[in-house]
Amino acid sequence: MAEIGTPERPLGIVGAGAMGSGIAQVALANGLDVVLWDQAEGAAEKARAQIFARLARSVEKGELEPGLRDSAERRLRLAGGLAEFAGCGAVIEAVVEDLEVKRRLFAELEGIVAEDAILASNTSSLPIGAIARAVRLRRRIAGLHFFNPVPLMRLVEVIRAADTDDAVVESLVALGKRLGRVPVVVKDAPGFLVNLGGRAYTTEALHLLHEGVATPDDIDAVMRDCCGFRMGPFELMDLTGIDVNYPVSRIIQDGYMGDPRLATTPLHAAMRDAGRLGRKSGHGFYRYDSAGKRIDAPPPAAPAGAKPGRIILPEAEEGLVALAEAAGVPSIAHDDGESPIAIAPWGEDCTTAALRLDFDPGRTVAVDLSHDTSKRITIMTAPGADPEAADAVAAMLAATGRAVTRIKDSPGFIAQRITAMIANLGCEMAQIGLASPADIDIAMRLGLNYPLGPLELADRMGLDRVYDILFRLQDITGSDRYRPSLWLRRRALLRLPAATPS
Ligand SMILES: NC(=O)c1ccc[n+]([C@@H]2O[C@H](COP(=O)([O-])OP(=O)(O)OC[C@H]3O[C@@H](n4cnc5c(N)ncnc54)[C@H](O)[C@@H]3O)[C@@H](O)[C@H]2O)c1
Repeated sequence: MAEIGTPERPLGIVGAGAMGSGIAQVALANGLDVVLWDQAEGAAEKARAQIFARLARSVEKGELEPGLRDSAERRLRLAGGLAEFAGCGAVIEAVVEDLEVKRRLFAELEGIVAEDAILASNTSSLPIGAIARAVRLRRRIAGLHFFNPVPLMRLVEVIRAADTDDAVVESLVALGKRLGRVPVVVKDAPGFLVNLGGRAYTTEALHLLHEGVATPDDIDAVMRDCCGFRMGPFELMDLTGIDVNYPVSRIIQDGYMGDPRLATTPLHAAMRDAGRLGRKSGHGFYRYDSAGKRIDAPPPAAPAGAKPGRIILPEAEEGLVALAEAAGVPSIAHDDGESPIAIAPWGEDCTTAALRLDFDPGRTVAVDLSHDTSKRITIMTAPGADPEAADAVAAMLAATGRAVTRIKDSPGFIAQRITAMIANLGCEMAQIGLASPADIDIAMRLGLNYPLGPLELADRMGLDRVYDILFRLQDITGSDRYRPSLWLRRRALLRLPAATPS
């Protein structure tokens, strides 16, 4: 296929809004010739002014050669209508998210561009196959899904629909690279890759809240401090807007035929219905002032009480032994019938673990050692437990300089549950061949700023551990939400790395 973005075969972009102008900007910054059109009067001119202002800033910051900015004026042509896209090697549409509008646009473009020109859609949620139905030559239709803001987000998903030619996919991968992006090839499926993969983080946090396990503040703090996420799931939902993430969750779950792994909770719907949309409405999971600054931060933690005289560590778990030592609390292995008992379960709630081990559930305190515990550590007890046992263990842990998060009894605490769900969904994406294992990890890191991709996360935690957490969660809750992906199960049982191909 001829090179796209040359003076003879420029890159066409229809729609000069947030995405279209961003795509045009990265194309110009990388030396391509661009034709841009928007049906709204003045929209393309406004986009051009913004693009050149941003390119000028990039030159000032030393990120762009002045020559590329200067030549961009010549390389950008604002079209007066679709007829001017006739010579384009490829056209990307970034118009309103409406299937009928996109179908009409592609049907019209088909009669204008050459037979070998590619037509790509930047849709976030519409099936590419459904758009392609409107045209005669379906093999040249694909998705090219950029992320907002385009100049800062390096990922681009190349969506291969049922009829898309391999050569078209290859050309779009090459085009993505020339635009300075990192392309990943993804199947035409609900939410594509990143929007599907992102469901685990937020919906599992919502389930923890739904069950009354912990507050949004506690869940966010654990995911930041223990799991390395830049934003907690509730901060993130407030930022993207409940009016955006609630419908996206529903569309994707419906697209996967109601899979309970992707379900959100009634609170999510109720917040959307009530207009509690997050930062944009001043009130979501948290409250904000007009500048978007949070105004309901929790009060500082209450001072810790007294450490226990001694602690029973019946499993002699290394991490717990080290914490007791650091706090200066003597530990013993046998039950003295009165001291608090500390355990570190995986995937079990305190109730189940204490009964399985035949420990007194009233004095047993479960401690989560699954992730980074250097800043914060989570504990939980069974219903009806003696509050003094949890107070004493909390004081012991606080004495080591760590923040202590106390939650209600839950299989898998906060961190194990959310990370296991992320890893499981990543494995499921590999199982259904949505993308290659390597691309799943790259896409989730670049598209969502995750510290690790889901398969890397599974390897880091240990596949057998992730499998155990999910197996127990499914057993204890009775919910298929937690059923382990077959991809995960097989590799955990065979002790193979998560990315091992089938
Ligand atoms: N904003 C995001 O975060 C984001 C991220 C990825 C993908 N997308 C997708 O990109 C597309 C555009 O989103 P956006 O945020 O840039 O929207 P936007 O509202 O900022 O811009 C859309 C532009 O398209 C123009 N337009 C509408 N119908 C047209 C038509 N028939 N012909 C020519 N121009 C037309 C409008 O005048 C407007 O300027 C949507 O499909 C959206 O789902 C958006």
